Amino acid sequence: MQAYTYNPYSILGKSILITGASSGIGRATAVECSKLGAKLILNGRNEVRLKETFFMLDGQGHMIIPADLTNEDELKQLVDSLPLMDGIVCNAGISKTAPISFFKREDMEQVFDVNVFSIALLLKYILKKKRMKNPSSIVMTSSVGGVFNVSPGNGIYSMSKCALDAYMRTTALELSSKGIRCNSVNPGMTWTKLITDGSLTDEQLQEDMNRYPLKRYGDPKDIALAIIYLLSDASSWVTGTSLKIDGGFSLVR
Ligand SMILES: NC(=O)c1ccc[n+]([C@@H]2O[C@H](COP(=O)([O-])OP(=O)(O)OC[C@H]3O[C@@H](n4cnc5c(N)ncnc54)[C@H](OP(=O)(O)O)[C@@H]3O)[C@@H](O)[C@H]2O)c1
Repeated sequence: MQAYTYNPYSILGKSILITGASSGIGRATAVECSKLGAKLILNGRNEVRLKETFFMLDGQGHMIIPADLTNEDELKQLVDSLPLMDGIVCNAGISKTAPISFFKREDMEQVFDVNVFSIALLLKYILKKKRMKNPSSIVMTSSVGGVFNVSPGNGIYSMSKCALDAYMRTTALELSSKGIRCNSVNPGMTWTKLITDGSLTDEQLQEDMNRYPLKRYGDPKDIALAIIYLLSDASSWVTGTSLKIDGGFSLVR
């Protein structure tokens, strides 16, 4: 049998920072990237769960750098420890649901702090320290929420992800001269603790899932593989794009 070695989607040997790697989509991205031979830097706050991810990885040369991205001192220390990189996956994020008349300033600040401001500051310090190669790729985990569809109670989260997509496009334009591409993945409902944290009952999740044309929610690996495409040289002419991955949900919403 002929052995096929041609793989334009390769990320072999690429050095990639993944935030939010202690669970969910970030963990799946780390595991899949390691199977393809990337060298990973894993960030999250929970050191125990970060180590769990670390021990799930294939290959060697990976590192863990725990840090709360909303703490500017910790964020700067993280950046100081980074090698020269081929890719960043800005994936850490949180969600808050509330009807409009119950919005609290502190809820909005908390969500924007993680989902928007920490990413803008992380990239600022990484660029100042010249930690990105030319060429390299930045991928942000946004959402279909707000960007492609809206749902009641999701206003704060939707605002944050729209802001993130706008920032992603600005970054793509501004960094193009440095050979740095920037794109987002925009998942629909994906099985992680973000959606199983108790704000929706099992019955509500099941009912919602049945409305998805492909009749299932996303698996974290579905999102990880799309992120890998955007990290790889296969997407070398793709920048400023929001890649919707939602099992067709926004077609019927
Ligand atoms: N699941 C979905 O349905 C869905 C849909 C669309 C978009 N998304 C987006 O996907 C991304 C990943 O979420 P997920 O679904 O995988 O949820 P998850 O399992 O809850 O993972 C969230 C990750 O973010 C990290 N994080 C949160 N706050 C942080 C902070 N201040 N500093 C550093 N790390 C922090 C968490 O780390 P620690 O726990 O260690 O703090 C965790 O690793 C998020 O941006 C989310 O908005 C998810």
